[in-house]
Formats: sequence, C-alpha cells, structure tokens
Amino acid sequence: MSIPNTQSDAPLDEAESASGNPVRRARARRRSKQRRRMANVAGLLLALVLTGATYSVFAPAQAAEDDNESAAEAAGRQLYEHSCITCHGSNLQGVEGRGPSLIGVGEAAVYFQVHTGRMPLTRQSSQGLDKPAVFSDEEIDQLMAYVQANGGGPTLPSGDLRDGDLAAGGELFRLNCASCHNFVGEGGALSSGKWAPSLRDANDRTIYAAMLSGPENMPVFGDNQLTPEQKRSIINYVQTVAEQADPGGAGVGRIGPVAEGLVIWVVGISALMFGIFWMGSKA
Ligand code: HEC
Ligand code: HEC
Repeated sequence: MSIPNTQSDAPLDEAESASGNPVRRARARRRSKQRRRMANVAGLLLALVLTGATYSVFAPAQAAEDDNESAAEAAGRQLYEHSCITCHGSNLQGVEGRGPSLIGVGEAAVYFQVHTGRMPLTRQSSQGLDKPAVFSDEEIDQLMAYVQANGGGPTLPSGDLRDGDLAAGGELFRLNCASCHNFVGEGGALSSGKWAPSLRDANDRTIYAAMLSGPENMPVFGDNQLTPEQKRSIINYVQTVAEQADPGGAGVGRIGPVAEGLVIWVVGISALMFGIFWMGSKA
C-alpha cells in the first residue's frame, strides 16, 4: 500500500509485526482478524440495505406497470375494498345472499347507486333507499373508474345531457316512464312493497344512469331502446317539469288548472244539495 492509511493504524501494526516481537505479532494478528471480521459484517449490512432500497424503489413501479392501473382506479380499488367488497366480492363477482355481481354493470350503474346514496347498502330492505351520498364526487369517480376497468359495461356520457327536444321528451316519457313514475314524474307505488320514486330531485346524470342501468324493477333502456338523443329529450322534459314554478294552491294531483275549481264545485254542490234536502225534510 503506497497511500498512507490515516483511518487505521494498520501500517503501524504491520511495522510492529515486522519488528519481530512475538507477543506484539500475535496481538497485531488478532487485531487485524477482528478488523476483517468487522469489515465483513459492515459489508454484509451495506449489501442488505442497498438491496432493500433498490427493491423498494423498483418493485412497486414494476407492480403498477404490470396492472396498468391508473391513480383513480387504484383509489377506487381502495374504496371498493373498504366499503363494497363484503357484498360484491373481491373480483366484482358478487356474494351469494349479499349482493349481485357487478361485472358488466358499468360506471353508469355505479354512479346511479352511489350518487343517490343507495349504495353502500346499510340494511336489507325490499329496495335500496335513496339517502344522502356517502362518498364525495371525486370518490364516486374513482369507484366508477375501478368498476369500469375491471367489470366493463355501459359508460356515462359527460357534458350537457339536457339538450334534447322538449316536446319529443314529453311524448317519450308518457310512453316509457309514466306507467311507473306518473305523468309528471312524481312516482308511485308498485307491487310487493316496492315503489317508483319521484324524479324531482334526480340530476341529469342520475336520470341518464337510471335509464342505462335499470335499477330494481325498472327496465333497462339501452341505446337500442332509446337512442342517446331520445334520452336527452326525456331528461329535458323531466327537468323542465321539476323546475316549473309551483302554480300555487292545493296540488290535487296536478291534473290541471281546473283542479281547485272542480273540488270546490263538487264540495259546494254537495253542501247545497244537503241543505235543500234538509229544508225539504223539515217541511
Ligand atoms: C350490505 C351489502 C352491500 C354493500 C355493502 C354494497 N352493496 Fe351494492 N348491492 C347490494 C345489493 C343487495 C344490490 C341489489 C339491490 C338492488 O338491486 O337494489 C346491490 C346493487 C348494486 C349495484 C347495481 C347492480 C346492477 O345490476 O345494476 C351497484 C352498481 C352496486 N350495488 C355498487 C355498490 C358499490 C359501489 C358499493 C360500495 C360503495 C356497494 N354496492 C356496497 C348490496 C350491497
Ligand atoms: C316498471 C316501472 C318503471 C318504469 C317503466 C320506469 N321506471 Fe324509473 N324507476 C323504477 C323503480 C322501481 C325505481 C327505483 C329503483 C331503486 O330504488 O333502486 C326507479 C328509479 C328511477 C330513477 C331514480 C330516481 C331517484 O332520484 O332516486 C330515475 C331517475 C328513473 N327511474 C327514471 C326513469 C325514466 C326516465 C324512465 C323512462 C325512460 C323510467 N324511469 C321508467 C321503475 C320504473
């Protein structure tokens, strides 16, 4: 070694060992043996740390690349595994007696169920109840991305969904929806404890998603049954009716402007008839 070693006293020891003193020589040998052992242990530790660091840097990147999972899907997977997996299964396949398969239902069904607060289902009832959504809009997007990526199915268009023809929408609504939801979308009872809810609080996307996914007893209105254009017309009609300023007075089923007059007329005539008969019976 030509470079002077300032970190250890090795050259000194070697010099000593060369000096010929047998006690010193033995001590020097023992010390250099200890040093070598410590160097080996340090080397081993360094190798372990390096391996670990290298692995932790490269392994997750590799896994993410393998799955090709976007950030939204990964976040959706976490939400799903926390809130939905017990009823819908680890691969969306459903769980016997708890929840149906979500394969092929698509992001539209997820939007409908989660945004209206029907899912996650909290208790068994004849029908998922419409309640405030548990998840934020961003979380709903993530759940949609996850189910869409892993199960496939109908997708929900973005942008304005209300730009259809109003009159055509009214016609289509009466033809396809009024039998259950009533002529002005107020809803009504169906058989065996089920009901078609009022459409007043549904937003555009919820209405579109309901048609695409057909929850519960509601039929699926795929793009063959109602074209996207027709769906937009229906949405326009439903929202226009919902937004119409209340004309005042008693609702009386909203059967028309004659409603209140008709009621007063019927009640009033009855009262008059009663009075006449009462006076006649006195005479
Ligand atoms: C307690 C069990 C339970 C939990 C938890 C649950 N679900 Fe459901 N889910 C059901 C049942 C039961 C149905 C069928 C009921 C119905 O059709 O109204 C269903 C239906 C659905 C549907 C409609 C499927 C279709 O065919 O259109 C979607 C989408 C859905 N769930 C998504 C979710 C998501 C997302 C979560 C988690 C945020 C979740 N569910 C949590 C039990 C559950
Ligand atoms: C056979 C009866 C039936 C017909 C026809 C029907 N629906 Fe429904 N609809 C239902 C039922 C039942 C529900 C409740 C489903 C649930 O709670 O999971 C529902 C729910 C909805 C909802 C969700 C409302 C909310 O805010 O919770 C919308 C929106 C909707 N329907 C729109 C429509 C439109 C638009 C049509 C016509 C294209 C239509 N429905 C035709 C039975 C029907």
